[in-house]
Amino acid sequence: MRSIDDLEVMGRRVLLRSDLNVPLDLTGTGEITDDGRIRASLPVISKLSDRGARVIILAHLGRPKGGTFEVRAAGGPSLRPVAARLGELLGRPVSFAADVAGPSAEDTAFSLGDEDVAVLENVRFEPAETSKDDTERGEFAQRLARLGEVYVGDGFGAVHRKHASVYDLPLLLPHAAGDLVRDEVAVLRQLTANPARPFVVVLGGKKPSDKLAVIGNLLNLADRILQIPAVREVMAEAERRGVELVLPVDLVVATHFAPDAEHSVVPATEMPADREGVDAGPRTRALFAEKLADAKTVFWNGPVGVFEFPAFAAGTRAIAEAVAAVNGLTVVGGGDSAAAVRALGIPEKSYSHISTGGGASLEYLEGKTLPGLTALEDDS
Ligand code: 3PG
Ligand code: MG
Repeated sequence: MRSIDDLEVMGRRVLLRSDLNVPLDLTGTGEITDDGRIRASLPVISKLSDRGARVIILAHLGRPKGGTFEVRAAGGPSLRPVAARLGELLGRPVSFAADVAGPSAEDTAFSLGDEDVAVLENVRFEPAETSKDDTERGEFAQRLARLGEVYVGDGFGAVHRKHASVYDLPLLLPHAAGDLVRDEVAVLRQLTANPARPFVVVLGGKKPSDKLAVIGNLLNLADRILQIPAVREVMAEAERRGVELVLPVDLVVATHFAPDAEHSVVPATEMPADREGVDAGPRTRALFAEKLADAKTVFWNGPVGVFEFPAFAAGTRAIAEAVAAVNGLTVVGGGDSAAAVRALGIPEKSYSHISTGGGASLEYLEGKTLPGLTALEDDS
């Protein structure tokens, strides 16, 4: 993988794919609740700009719905507030294009001067970005390619997605991997190459279906998996492979999804149909902490409760503290887990590494081919 130091960028239009997929306020105000991914993207943006590049940032936010650009753009979320925050953090003006590969993007890209930085609108407003059809994605990538002269992949959190801006676009332009991607991969390599044992994996989070799809090979890597939600399908397989699977024994359930919802603790086997699970229960917190105590390597992905609401943050806090107390290599992965650690006020240096990628890290640990890395590895 070439690094950006190997790229000639002076005076050139650089298409930079970043992961600016920041968490937004759960109650719908649209407020950015944690800007960690923007901060993590700053070093490469500054480096490129300092070297005289004309930086054009491509990024996604959320999972917009609808069949056309117009419908998606109307439904949001727009990257505009993210671009504004980026400008504040960067300390220099950042221009914003109201479309992705249309007239506004072209105007913006071609009017940049050396060292200027621009952000294009949410790349997922273009349905072709995430299309399963190679031709559709390829054509969209061609449109994007016209905006720039070289490509830098630095959106580690999205390298597991075979999307146009992540996979197809770098194949069309001279390209390099950004420092964030290179650093993240270096840490994950340590987790796969002879990790100290016991190696404990904690899986929580908001995208359980994503995680079910990748759990198979974790059974080859880990000695123990602490998991919310309970996944009956993997229990037999875990037992066969000698991996200890630890499931929640109790849960906090609430009447509805709100910070002040009425709530109670129930055994995990007696979840009432008219309640929502919002946190790990007290016995589960103690159990998970005990199962982390002797770990020598930990990978934690995904909060175990709705930590954004203080009443339901105790489970995530228990995990965060137990992982912080581990004497060994500890990696916290994912936008939400990293945000949780910061929201709970736990110093970031309590962990060996806080990764910007949850799903991406998991798939890397799985030994899967990550499209965004494959495309960057191809140095032809
Ligand atoms: C993430 O938040 O995990 C990355 O930004 C990728 O987003 P996605 O899961 O919606 O593809
Ligand atoms: Mg994720």
